[in-house]
Amino acid sequence: MATLTITRLGHQGDGITEGPVFVPRTLPGEVVEGQVTDGRIAAPRILTPSPQRIKAPCPHYRTCGGCALQHAQDDFVTDWKQGILRQALAAQGIEAPFRAPHISPLRSRRRAGFAGRRLKNGAMVGFHARASDVLTAVPDCLILDPALVAALPLLQDLTAREGSRKGELSLSLTVSEAGLDLAVTGGKALDDPLRARLGQWAGQSGLARLAWDGDVIAQSQPPFHTIGRARVTPPPGAFLQATKPAEAALQAAVCDAIGAAAQVADLFAGCGTFALSLAKNAEILAVESDAAMLRALDAGWRQAQGLKRITTQMRDLFRNPILPEDLARFDAVVIDPPRAGAETQMRALAASRVPRIAAVSCNPVTFARDAKLLVQGGYRLDWVQVVDQFRFSPHLELAAQFTK
Ligand SMILES: C[S@@+](CC[C@H](N)C(=O)[O-])C[C@H]1O[C@@H](n2cnc3c(N)ncnc32)[C@H](O)[C@@H]1O
Repeated sequence: MATLTITRLGHQGDGITEGPVFVPRTLPGEVVEGQVTDGRIAAPRILTPSPQRIKAPCPHYRTCGGCALQHAQDDFVTDWKQGILRQALAAQGIEAPFRAPHISPLRSRRRAGFAGRRLKNGAMVGFHARASDVLTAVPDCLILDPALVAALPLLQDLTAREGSRKGELSLSLTVSEAGLDLAVTGGKALDDPLRARLGQWAGQSGLARLAWDGDVIAQSQPPFHTIGRARVTPPPGAFLQATKPAEAALQAAVCDAIGAAAQVADLFAGCGTFALSLAKNAEILAVESDAAMLRALDAGWRQAQGLKRITTQMRDLFRNPILPEDLARFDAVVIDPPRAGAETQMRALAASRVPRIAAVSCNPVTFARDAKLLVQGGYRLDWVQVVDQFRFSPHLELAAQFTK
């Protein structure tokens, strides 16, 4: 048995002592006791609790791996997330003003990835316990939109019928404005009998759309999302910002960051979260590697009234970044890469003369690395903003403005 004091939180939200020893679900200043195994106390006893400690509001918190930080006051979690970004920037020699953060409300998560496993009698659908293949049912989850929670019995029914006892179904469920949109992967190969069974099941499910391994099996009505003045039907399972309030906060931040730009390039454009909201005032080139997402963006734009031109371009921006001379015609660039960041594209941007850049990122470390490239290229980081759409998890989204 060891008695140790937590000195800080790691990037996954675990308490860390000198040594280091990792102690999950503890807070700085807390004195804990427990058995250290492989540098970790798996089941600590808290001897001295932090004044920041609260009783976790969710009844599933003890067993569910979906959240890591429900045992701390909200302000502590927000400060901690801002601190992660501040440290990542400091490690690259950058300081920046922080705008007031956005915190998404509880029960606003509009898409979630559940796992489903068939059991001897019925099925289990839920989230994995932390670093484990054990599943936890989450009927009272505080994060999810109530429509997602209400659909859990439906997912269980599907898993009991078509899931397996060996593997897991991945069930990506999204709340659209036309109803629920379910994309299943990891199941049996789609043959004619399975297609027929799924079609019949979907007909009675009330879902707007069911897709199996990317194939649309049934669509009672196209699932859609309003973005600016457009309605977009994304391909099954496609990326969307996790909550609608965070999407609005990111759109507002990006809109501020590009100012009065009339010609804008939206890089890593997805289904048009930024392109379609900015096209009210600016002509947009939307660049993205996924053809189906670009088709969805383009269809949304064509049906909308009163938007300026959006041109779409399918392009792998990692291998084939837009070069400085081709960036010269833009007044602003929006860039929202995946977790890996966008090193090659940032090098080209750093060498360009584009006056304003709005950057969005879900990874503070790659963002800070890319920010350094821009700063070395003569850009100033005017502000950053944490957008917490992943409440209670160690993840964070951010927006930033660079000018030259
Ligand atoms: C974080 S998402 C952002 C999407 C969009 N901006 C939004 O907010 O909805 C990143 C996007 O980058 C696209 N992507 C990933 N790798 C890419 C690459 N090498 N070149 C171009 N786009 C890529 C993905 O398909 C995805 O749509």
